Amino acid sequence: MATRGAWGSNIGFILAAVGGAVGLGNLWGFAYSASQGGGAAFVVLYFVFVLFVGLPVLTAELVIGRHTKRSPIAALAAVGGDKVKWVGVLFVLVGFGILSFYSVIMGWTGRLLLDFIRGAVPEQTGAHFAAISEGPGAIVAHLLGMLLVIFVISRGVQKGIERVSVILMPTLFFLIAALAVWASTLSGAGPGYAFYLQPDFSKLFETQTITGAAGQAFFSLSLGMGAMITYSSYLPGKGNLPGKAGLIALSDTMVAFVGGLVTFPVVFHFGLQEDVSASAIGALFIAVPRGLLSFGTAGQFVGIVFFSALYIAALTSAISLLEVVSSALIDSWGWTRSRAGWVAGGAIALAGIPGALSADWVGFLFQLVGQAFLVFGGLLLALIVGYLWKDQARAELLTGFDKPALATGWIWLLRRVVPVMLAVTLYFAVIGLGPVARALFE
Ligand code: TRP
Repeated sequence: MATRGAWGSNIGFILAAVGGAVGLGNLWGFAYSASQGGGAAFVVLYFVFVLFVGLPVLTAELVIGRHTKRSPIAALAAVGGDKVKWVGVLFVLVGFGILSFYSVIMGWTGRLLLDFIRGAVPEQTGAHFAAISEGPGAIVAHLLGMLLVIFVISRGVQKGIERVSVILMPTLFFLIAALAVWASTLSGAGPGYAFYLQPDFSKLFETQTITGAAGQAFFSLSLGMGAMITYSSYLPGKGNLPGKAGLIALSDTMVAFVGGLVTFPVVFHFGLQEDVSASAIGALFIAVPRGLLSFGTAGQFVGIVFFSALYIAALTSAISLLEVVSSALIDSWGWTRSRAGWVAGGAIALAGIPGALSADWVGFLFQLVGQAFLVFGGLLLALIVGYLWKDQARAELLTGFDKPALATGWIWLLRRVVPVMLAVTLYFAVIGLGPVARALFE
């Protein structure tokens, strides 16, 4: 077997994992879901999910990865026996599926960044987005993004993923913080914050809000398909895993929250509420550019910062997705890293082309693999660790973390709470497939 990679440092691992987690989901999905789900009521619910569902599953992934030091297929076989190996295979397929549409959205982001740099965003941002999101331009942007991702992956864990994360993640934090400060100076900041931070509790008890928060948390934390198993498989055998899980979850949640402090003032400043409720995509790629255009040169500058941040966030997440598929090929078939990266990345690049031709296809894939299958994967993972592997899981957790009571609570959550919550979420994610599937045929 080819030699496996390893992280060069603890902070390198954390930044890479946070890079995988912080992505388009934070800066686009979170604010959008919050705007639909009663502002702070959604935010509070989201925090609850991160704590009681996300964190236990994230910890489980880190525990599996570090214990087995294998990519998901071999890792799950080691943990639950050959009878659950298919779950690992499913994870790899889900990673493949997610990246195939994620890279298309990343391409749109890159295209708008370029347009802002060139000062070439037209007044009709809606028509512009329609033109760049489907067709040859979208294909080129998608393929260029995939090339970048493949390049990083083939450089290796430490020289590729870690090095890129260590540079890009602090840059991203800085850009987002700067945007939040800028947004606070807008006259729309007051009403924007009010909408964001004043809870509308009537929405809190709608099943849509509840399952939306769970699905969003799962996607945002990159759970349910072994991305975190893969990254933690490059960790040395010591250290405090719950602490790492907590830090990753906290960073991801902070970025999502601060992202809302950027988005809501902008939306209210420019009176874009209607565009936002029309669609999530509309919010990010149509409404925000339209607002910024009215600011002239200053708006152009902010646009560059905003879309740079988005692109960085998307890129480091895309890297984590390709790493899952590549590492499976490296571990299962003994391929070299660059061969695995090019073959897996090339196949995903091809599979992404339909998405670059139809935004409805992107929406459908998001709901299918980015929601339903992720939640299903998380459900299986909780059951496997909570029922088939609990004693070893406990022992591994307690290596470098001496809090038996917390370990007991963790197993209990995995056995009793997480499966129930995820089963309900899965049900609604499947129901949600109806409308997006119909959109394909309209
Ligand atoms: N979490 C990323 C986001 O918020 C997307 C992502 C990257 C992801 N890797 C993943 C989602 C693995 C699920 C599983 O945009």
